[in-house]
Amino acid sequence: MKRILSGITPSSQKGLHLGNFLGAVKPHIEFQDKGECFYFIANLHALNNVFDPANVRRNTQNIFTEYLAFGIDPEKTTFYIQSDIPQIPYLQTILNNTVTMAELKRMHAYKDKLQNDVAQDTINFGLFSYPVLMAADILLFKPDIIPVGEDQAQHVEIARDIAKTFNARYGEIFKIPDLYIKKETARVPGIYGDRKMSKSLGNDIPIFGTEEEVKKQIMAIKTDPARIHPTDPGNPDKNITFTYFDLLEYDKNKLESMKELYRKGKIGDVEIKTTFFRFFLEYFADFRTKKTVLLKDKDQIHKLRLGGAQKAIKIAEKVLKDVAEAVGIL
Ligand code: ADP
Ligand code: TRP
Repeated sequence: MKRILSGITPSSQKGLHLGNFLGAVKPHIEFQDKGECFYFIANLHALNNVFDPANVRRNTQNIFTEYLAFGIDPEKTTFYIQSDIPQIPYLQTILNNTVTMAELKRMHAYKDKLQNDVAQDTINFGLFSYPVLMAADILLFKPDIIPVGEDQAQHVEIARDIAKTFNARYGEIFKIPDLYIKKETARVPGIYGDRKMSKSLGNDIPIFGTEEEVKKQIMAIKTDPARIHPTDPGNPDKNITFTYFDLLEYDKNKLESMKELYRKGKIGDVEIKTTFFRFFLEYFADFRTKKTVLLKDKDQIHKLRLGGAQKAIKIAEKVLKDVAEAVGIL
């Protein structure tokens, strides 16, 4: 049976958005029936930009709960919080010696940061070594497949390189995992259509937001700019709402007839968005309810957290022992 591993960084208070759901969560849930899954909340990764401890704690619990609400089955899947597994940062320290500064400098996350604001010397080392921590997350569990969105591909690539360097130096300890990107949902566009949906760009549709928050974002979706009046013919390809309908597998016939009306200028953008808003709430209704229910049972959440950590540590300890022996510290 194939082993599948992925993580998600709890760096936002807003919780998961439609892009996260389609690009990451949905494939993760589906993989539970296909292999042995390892999923975790990467709270150590969040520390490079979330400096308020209360926020770190809240975001971590929040995403942990949202993942459960989406249908992670802790019986089948090893589901844990990264910082509960001390073997991960331990392995990171060892892996630091298998990667060069030049390789790390090529990483998008680092380059974006450089572009956005700051001088190279002021970027914190946590961000710079982010891919090494991610390599440790991955290699420690010897997975076969890493399902992520497109933006994480480069990080998985460096984990593969690190594994190859390590194996060449010390023997075949690590498995070289394959990257898995679901093509159709690799890069869900944001509501303004120009960039990928991202919590930090304000172009996301939050799944667990209040109805007002969800509605505000949906009503702001970019539509065909050439269309001034609802009676003008429109191009459905230029209205991202149709893309979202598609990605959420809305009824094909209904969608086609809505597109037809759009082309003919017989339906307004507001009506389309209102229909999408209703569909969105209906699509996510059960998950939203489940989250509210779970949040009331803090003891249960805590129990699941401990159970997941125990399962993960059992495996992590064994692999780390092999690594420690291989490098000569045991
Ligand atoms: P964000 O870009 O909002 O900060 P993260 O970097 O925390 O999101 O990503 C969490 C997971 O969701 C990753 O696996 C990432 O690849 C996926 N993901 C994020 N945004 C999108 C998107 N717009 N389309 C597809 N997948 C996405
Ligand atoms: N960096 C990923 C993100 O921001 C989360 C992550 C951390 C991850 N470690 C990982 C994903 C290991 C896959 C495998 O979403």
